Amino acid sequence: MDLITARGLSKDFIDDVFKKAKTYETVAKKKTAVDDLRGKTLATLFYEPSTRTQLSFQTAMHRLGGDVIGFSDPKTTSASKGERLSDTIRVVEGYSDVIVIRHPLEGSAALAAEYSSIPVINAGDGSNQHPTQALMDLYTISREKKKIDGLTFLIAGDLKYGRTVHSLLYLLAHYKVKVMLYSPPSLPMPQWIVDEVSGRIEVEVVDRLREDADVVYATRVQEERFPDPEEYRKSLYQIDADFVEKLKEDAIIMHPLPRVKEISPEVDKNPRAKYFEQSFYGVPVRMAILSLLVK
Ligand code: NCD
Repeated sequence: MDLITARGLSKDFIDDVFKKAKTYETVAKKKTAVDDLRGKTLATLFYEPSTRTQLSFQTAMHRLGGDVIGFSDPKTTSASKGERLSDTIRVVEGYSDVIVIRHPLEGSAALAAEYSSIPVINAGDGSNQHPTQALMDLYTISREKKKIDGLTFLIAGDLKYGRTVHSLLYLLAHYKVKVMLYSPPSLPMPQWIVDEVSGRIEVEVVDRLREDADVVYATRVQEERFPDPEEYRKSLYQIDADFVEKLKEDAIIMHPLPRVKEISPEVDKNPRAKYFEQSFYGVPVRMAILSLLVK
């Protein structure tokens, strides 16, 4: 199995990931290792910058007893000599048992999966999808709020170019939730995603940061994907301590990180801030994903 998009992922698969992730939490917390993928190799092919995704996948593989190869700067690879992605994939599948790929072009992970006989995991393809991030986001919510059904979400920021929220919305459609979408006017959630999920969950586009949410999910305005720098500057927004004080006592604030200005650093000490817990959960969730996909 490949993991390319959150669209069409089954509830059973999500439940399997959550169950396994829970069993791996202690290993991740204690920074020890198990033998579940001993003798297996993960290849991480990162054609775009990454801190958390790359390091947490590598950590996850080490904690499963496996090995890691890969690159994080395509300039040091034959891509800079003009090698096409399909050739790179055919080579790397001979060296490894699973491939994690991040690439600036939408559809690149799907293309890699077509050429690969080993599982391919999409770690972000342009502004399209980032399914493992959405799985760890949902897992964070289930751990921190102890449930997902019945919650109201405020998803804020760059909903147009932000791939994490595209994946998250597809996964949320499996639950009984209400989603409020807030973005600068030029950065709305793609209509086709809204259309697809709104038959299953209530989706409302709101024109300000609303306080009546159980989960506030903020995203970075994706500067690198903006054709016009002026448009980027006009699109900035911020969640500050004043806004956070108006939230419900037990609301949580999430962010896939990296954070730039969208959440003021003064919010970090507020008990509602859960973005660093969220990035930690990337390890057990990615351990679960790797162990389910690699046979
Ligand atoms: C996100 C990404 O790369 O899409 N980062 C991540 O994987 N945690 C979010 C972002 O870059 O804004």
